[in-house]
Amino acid sequence: MTQSNWMALFHKMPDLLAPTMAKDHPNLPVVKEEGCYYYGLDGRKYLDFTSGIAVANTGHRHPKVVQAIKEAADRLMHGPSGVIMYESILRLAEELTKILPEGLDCFFFANSGTEAIEGAIKLAKHVTRRPYVISFTGCFHGRSLGALSVSTSKSKYRKYLQPNGLTYQLPYANPKDCPVGEDPDVYFANRLENDVASLFAHQVTPEEVACMIVEPVLGEGGYIVPPKGWLHKMREICDRYEILLIFDEVQTGFGRTGEWFAAQTFGVTPDIMAIAKGIASGLPLSATVASKELMKQWPLGSHGTTFGGNPIACEAALATLEVFREEKLLENCREVGEYARKKLEVLKRKHPVIGDVRSIGLMIGIEIVQPHTGEPNGEGVMNILNRCLQKGVLFYLCGNQGEVIRMIPPLIVTKEQIDEGLSMLDEALTEYEAEIGVHSFASGK
Ligand SMILES: Cc1ncc(COP(=O)(O)O)c(C=O)c1O
Repeated sequence: MTQSNWMALFHKMPDLLAPTMAKDHPNLPVVKEEGCYYYGLDGRKYLDFTSGIAVANTGHRHPKVVQAIKEAADRLMHGPSGVIMYESILRLAEELTKILPEGLDCFFFANSGTEAIEGAIKLAKHVTRRPYVISFTGCFHGRSLGALSVSTSKSKYRKYLQPNGLTYQLPYANPKDCPVGEDPDVYFANRLENDVASLFAHQVTPEEVACMIVEPVLGEGGYIVPPKGWLHKMREICDRYEILLIFDEVQTGFGRTGEWFAAQTFGVTPDIMAIAKGIASGLPLSATVASKELMKQWPLGSHGTTFGGNPIACEAALATLEVFREEKLLENCREVGEYARKKLEVLKRKHPVIGDVRSIGLMIGIEIVQPHTGEPNGEGVMNILNRCLQKGVLFYLCGNQGEVIRMIPPLIVTKEQIDEGLSMLDEALTEYEAEIGVHSFASGK
């Protein structure tokens, strides 16, 4: 297709695609992606600090993954598992047990994060024979009705679809809410204990609760890293009442926090895990993971899939795991993540519109505020992101009011690329501050 035909087609987008999917930021028309870059229809090269929303952890179109996909397509394109059985799905299951926390060794493969969550909740309810689920305010678990019933990152996602009454929400542990002078680990552990006691006294008995589901780092809700003590307390409470603990590692998984999974970063093993996004470097694949003992209580036919565990996606996932090991991506994530964090601390001291910088590995949130009041500033984020785009770097956003710049570069990113992207962000922040009449400090040192 010629460039002008492509552009003409692009302008038809509002009529061709449902507005709910077509108006996200920035909708950049792209002709090619490679490594840490997008190549725009406008002929420009853009540094990608979104990883296609935490998917392209090995970089876009890693040659090894592309090769595995091509070879797989020459042999098998579709299962479905159940009708036929193929090597890649079994090999992938075996390989994943080597990187998951011990005891998480049996898999239900699906296509998307949402499906992995649906599977996790269904499994928990089936095994415990209990109807209720506890989730945490601000978490996002997907957009189908089951996943939505536990998602509270934005009320607009639930408008006219209010959940079925089988879920209860407790507050997430945002370190900002810890009173000055208190130890956040102790404070949030005690608060969770009290919240749970109150819930069980007034609203639902523990014997009726199948599971607690949580994002071990809050993603869409604003990139909030909870204190370890809070997640350890959650594990303890679940054990006490024989409630299953589900970690939604759809976004935190596959190296994003500097370990394979946040479960390892925090030292807490859930009973069930949902994994997706980075698993196959861009091909749709996900899994609900649990122990064999738990999975074996889920009878044949109570759950199923047509496309889940697609053979090409499984080969892409196997290649992804090899790339992680060969290129030491976990180490790179930790090292470059620390480097980026230090640079962002300097930018925070320079720019009064930065309210907070939060990070774990290469999962980085830069909160933008109204400088005089500290109020969240979603409009400011859009202004800054658009300026960044003009300069050649793509960031994404998150937070209840879109007030957080979400920085999730591919895990292959180099320090030089961090310098390149953050210097564009620095310029964009300076321009925005000039526009709203706020003065940046000359140096953040
Ligand atoms: C933590 C988390 N859970 C679930 C989902 C849903 O995944 P998907 O969009 O693949 O259905 C997402 C997607 O952004 C997510 O970030």
